[in-house]
Amino acid sequence: MFDFQTDTGLDKPELYEALTQAAQALVYGESDPVANMANLSAVIWQFLPDLNWAGFYRTIGDELVLGPFMGKPACIRIPFGQGVCGTAAASARTQVVPDVHAFPGHIACDAETRSEVVVPVVVDGKVIAVIDLDSPTPSRFDEADAAGLEKLALIAAKAICATP
Ligand code: SME
Repeated sequence: MFDFQTDTGLDKPELYEALTQAAQALVYGESDPVANMANLSAVIWQFLPDLNWAGFYRTIGDELVLGPFMGKPACIRIPFGQGVCGTAAASARTQVVPDVHAFPGHIACDAETRSEVVVPVVVDGKVIAVIDLDSPTPSRFDEADAAGLEKLALIAAKAICATP
């Protein structure tokens, strides 16, 4: 059983440090990519406040395909270069979007979403997946979130590509 305690008094760097440690513990010794993406989505959801969606899209061919997540059902396939996720995947760069309505081509999966951050998961120079977080609050995500999630993406990269 994993019973992580979350402390609401932490600042963002401390929160992401705690999240990173919990994520490391969750994937330790496990090579199944679906199990690891599922648990990473769950621990993000548990640690980070004010989210309405958190999860993975995986690169399959020239598009992103929905992976394990927490939140409402979401769009399944996103071509590289489209929406926030497709832009992060095509550019291999984190996208911090304070106002999704101002992002050209944003793909609305949930009308409540107001801000979003998407972080690429890179292995051997290739974007193998993205981590997508949505919030109903405008400007929910900033550079501290991007930095914390980029560290988490390094753990995800190993956890998705782990060999037994
Ligand atoms: N809004 C995303 C699509 C994925 S959902 O938010 C879960 C985008 O524009 O890429």
